[in-house]
Amino acid sequence: MTNNEQPTPSHMLDLKEWSKDNALNIFRTADEMSQILGRTIKKVPALQGFTVANLFFENSTRTKLSFERAAKALSADVMNFSASSSSLSKGESLKDTLRTLDAMQADLYIVRHGVSGAPYQLQKWTNAAIVNAGDGRRAHPTQALLDAFTFRTSFPNFDGFGGKKLVIVGDLMHSRVVRSNVELWTKLGAQVTLCGPNSLVPPALAAFEGVERNLNLAEAVEGAHAVMAVRIQHERMQKGLFPSLAEYRMRYQLNEKIMERAHPDALVMHPGPMNRDIEISGSLADSERSVIEKQVANGIPIRMAVLYTLLVGRKKS
Ligand code: CP
Repeated sequence: MTNNEQPTPSHMLDLKEWSKDNALNIFRTADEMSQILGRTIKKVPALQGFTVANLFFENSTRTKLSFERAAKALSADVMNFSASSSSLSKGESLKDTLRTLDAMQADLYIVRHGVSGAPYQLQKWTNAAIVNAGDGRRAHPTQALLDAFTFRTSFPNFDGFGGKKLVIVGDLMHSRVVRSNVELWTKLGAQVTLCGPNSLVPPALAAFEGVERNLNLAEAVEGAHAVMAVRIQHERMQKGLFPSLAEYRMRYQLNEKIMERAHPDALVMHPGPMNRDIEISGSLADSERSVIEKQVANGIPIRMAVLYTLLVGRKKS
């Protein structure tokens, strides 16, 4: 199923370690997974005998459920761990928690954690593969893959990411989705423009090659092929970083009027969960241009492709 010229990494902790060719191979594998999901019986035995553990220390709807759905479509066994109902509350350490699941022969962990770098730490304590399902503000690699895959599959005559313009608007400061998307889309050859209040656009992100920063949304969106709004993450803000929600809406809300400045075929994206009528107008989110639900649906073939790529042929120690 894969056509690798470059070695495939053993984990998906961050997209830094994944080359452009590696990412394109994931897309090609996801195309095949999409075909499986289009059949009457949406299940194949490709990962029969493997066990995947969902290790979520932070809440999730889309990522957790689509990884579970993806693993089951490939016939892997799935163990679901939720921090709030686990023995962590009795004082068990993270390392002992992982060793407990290792003793139950997990082959791959899908990890979401509020601390940036937590999946790297877990990787040192196990021989199993690790997939980062979101760590703090740092990375959410499968989200970026499914976002780019959605863009790739939304145009009938798609001719590559080169020359395409993605605009990301919103709370860029606290978003791991933005970091991973900037990493991936620039690697694929797209031009990325970041937009948001000055206090929410980290200079380090704007310094990436292929990335522009424009604090004026109407100007930023000019000629864009896709515009992605990201959520205001109140839960990660230590203090107010913009004057008021009313002003934020007025200057940075993605809506139909702003989208008139984009390319006529431009897509509206949002990784979810949405604050409807704050960072994006509800009517735009529900419009013909919106591929938000398609992004959710594409989470399944992309995550099937990631699980398949990491587990098949993996050397057991
Ligand atoms: N996009 C995303 O990561 O959503 P969840 O938090 O629901 O998994």
